Amino acid sequence: MLGPMNESAPASVAFAGVTKRFGDLTVLDGIDLEVHAGEVLALLGPSGGGKSTLLRLINGLEIRDGGTLRVLDRDVPLGPPAALPSDPWWRDLRQEIGFVFQAFHLYPHKTALENVTLAPVAVRGRAVDEVEVEGRALLERVGLAHKADAMPRQLSGGQQQRVAIARALAMDPRILLFDEPTSALDPEMSAEVIEVMRALAAQHDRTLIVVTHEFGFAREAADRVAFLEHGRILEVGPAREVLESPQHERARAFFERVL
Ligand SMILES: Nc1ncnc2c1ncn2[C@@H]1O[C@H](COP(=O)(O)OP(=O)(O)O)[C@@H](O)[C@H]1O
Ligand SMILES: [Mg+2]
Repeated sequence: MLGPMNESAPASVAFAGVTKRFGDLTVLDGIDLEVHAGEVLALLGPSGGGKSTLLRLINGLEIRDGGTLRVLDRDVPLGPPAALPSDPWWRDLRQEIGFVFQAFHLYPHKTALENVTLAPVAVRGRAVDEVEVEGRALLERVGLAHKADAMPRQLSGGQQQRVAIARALAMDPRILLFDEPTSALDPEMSAEVIEVMRALAAQHDRTLIVVTHEFGFAREAADRVAFLEHGRILEVGPAREVLESPQHERARAFFERVL
């Protein structure tokens, strides 16, 4: 098992001096951050601080303006995002990266099971029968074996998000990115999703970067916590240390406000 202390583990994601601007607005301002293989990192901070943008750089939904970014031992190029959808380099890398969004983004006209099996069949060209068996097992893992044939509109928000997690896992990605996966959910549904995420985090078999306001999850399931504000990582360290005794005044103020 890889843990936070395993400094010799290869960096799964490594930002060095990364900047990102939208027009005149500097959204990420010199990000230095290494996330190790198998590590669980919780990314916390106020709205507008750049958390989503940081995640989106990792799978090429945005392209940085400066600095270097390595993902799974590959140097991420600088280049126009418009070129990305058809770019084979990005297509290859994205197969290794799962992304779970706040708004689920399931395919509305496909069943839960079809949502899970679509990519392995379409992208990997795998046999439908084989992928269906795995898809059902993944749905079972997120507590939804009985909903395999349900359409997204027949599922609660919490159930849809758990299908989205199963879908992300179906490609067996080495990196899983979560962008406020429970922010659109009521507390009960959040708890269902968090339970699934805790189980994933406990395995330490892939890299998890989780943008969240769920402090319980961050404290108990994350190896490290990073605090991002105004495009800068003001503090990063072991989860309990950062959350219980933040060194940076801005982090302290934020945690007090949110907790
Ligand atoms: N595509 C975009 N075009 C212009 N500004 C953007 C775009 N995406 C994000 N921003 C701005 O970048 C800043 C950081 O946004 P974001 O990364 O979404 O922060 P967070 O996820 O921490 O709330 C915000 O000021 C936001 O308005
Ligand atoms: Mg965001």
